[in-house]
Amino acid sequence: KGSKCVGDDSRFLDQFLPCSSSLSLPGPPGHFLIGNMMELKHDHLPIHLTNLAQRYGSIYRLKCGTTTMVVLNSSEVIREALVKKWCDFAGRPISYTGNIVSGGGCNISLGDYTEKWKAQHRLVHSSLQRCCKKSLHDVIERQALHLLKVLMGYKGRAVDLSEDFTVAASNVITTLAFGIEYDKSSSELQELHRCLNEIVALWGSAWISALDSFPLLRKLPNPVFAHLLKEVVRRDEIIGRHLNNYKSQDKKNQDVITGSLLQGLDNQNTEDKALLTDIHVHMATVDLLIGGTETTAAWLNWMVAFLLHRPEVQELVYEELCTVLEGRYPKYSDRHRLPVLCSLISEVLRLRPVAPLAVPHRAIRDSSIAGYFIPKNTVIIPNLFGAHHDPEVWPDPYSFKPERFLNEGGGSGGGSTRDLIPFGGGARLCLGESVAKMELFLFSAYLLRDFQFLLPESETSLPDLRGVASVVLKIKSYDVVARPRPVTNP
Ligand code: HEM
Repeated sequence: KGSKCVGDDSRFLDQFLPCSSSLSLPGPPGHFLIGNMMELKHDHLPIHLTNLAQRYGSIYRLKCGTTTMVVLNSSEVIREALVKKWCDFAGRPISYTGNIVSGGGCNISLGDYTEKWKAQHRLVHSSLQRCCKKSLHDVIERQALHLLKVLMGYKGRAVDLSEDFTVAASNVITTLAFGIEYDKSSSELQELHRCLNEIVALWGSAWISALDSFPLLRKLPNPVFAHLLKEVVRRDEIIGRHLNNYKSQDKKNQDVITGSLLQGLDNQNTEDKALLTDIHVHMATVDLLIGGTETTAAWLNWMVAFLLHRPEVQELVYEELCTVLEGRYPKYSDRHRLPVLCSLISEVLRLRPVAPLAVPHRAIRDSSIAGYFIPKNTVIIPNLFGAHHDPEVWPDPYSFKPERFLNEGGGSGGGSTRDLIPFGGGARLCLGESVAKMELFLFSAYLLRDFQFLLPESETSLPDLRGVASVVLKIKSYDVVARPRPVTNP
């Protein structure tokens, strides 16, 4: 009662609710057939949506054909939808192409909020927790030490570190998931990354999303779609081979996630039995591999690039690491004694939340956000990038200033870690949040303790910080020199 209405979808309800069209959600005018589809074709969508928020406010609507999308641009409205009213907005939009890449909606990230999804989420969450408790710290430490060795091997040459970061992040997940660590030159690792990256990139392309909006196009030949199908088959072959290894064991190795998931399937009580099958374990493994590799790797690339822009921050972190750790490598439990490093991590997550638009949500029942009526099936886009650049919360929002987090609780920096939402929230909170937090902390602490990152002498310009936005927000590739710090081992 008394809520405001969302554009056309609310016309039917207008008869029952006292809302006038003047209280409709604001949003840019669009073509009568395709709506605001062109707005979504922008080369840096998160920046574009954030700019629209300056004109239309922290909540506005976009129309795409028959679909209404509501874009949320402040942490307040995002939290209202995702956390406070999580049970209203826990759904995912169902799409033709989404079904194809997710084994018919059988994965966690694209699966709708159904009883099956809840059972799958419970199973994956408990397997992840169980395996992480046992080995996550050791696994990350091992990969961090290996990464240091690889950087040492460059002997101060200018290199692009993105692949090394990808291998390190990927090995954390493959060790947890399959008990396998790959070498950078491993052909299977390269094939797996190539294939997962292709699927994410192709799925985000206009050639593929057009198939969701215009079903008639599905009848025409589409080489991009054919390519996507081929990569999905390849992905399933690789993952299937690893799962088969565990399936053949009588007593599953529960120290690795896939073993624990398969054991979970075997142990399902009769009630759940009809719910989950091998495909749910298969697709959850895909989720962990995709979610756990590019995100952490992209973040590490951003961190080094920002430090090249403000080298004095790097020196402050290094001094803190030397003083607090007195020569040893850090443990995750040291994070409370390393506020400068933690402020760097928070600021990079603020400026470049690597999943800038999260994953679209869907209203599973009629609800409201910020007083606006939101009908069932409305697609919700949480613009995390926009929330992290909200000038009402973050003074000078586009500047890289880790020190703003050191002034929390009364300083002049503005904002606080409470206003950060890089992992989303509520029922769809990033499943790998605790894995990611430990990785960001340990990888950056190890790297900054042992290396000083410098712009190569041959380079005249600093890395471009604008980034390339797809599902994951990545920096354009750049070279950097990793100069070893003086040996401080006790
Ligand atoms: C979902 C961020 C690392 C697995 C998400 C979402 C965000 C996010 C924003 C969408 C939340 C929503 O829909 O509201 C990040 C960031 C990471 C990171 C910033 C690192 C810096 C990881 C890692 C894993 C992972 C390491 C796996 C171990 C997932 C999964 C989902 C997800 C499975 C789907 C959750 C669902 O739909 O319920 N992540 N993530 N992520 N993430 Fe992460």
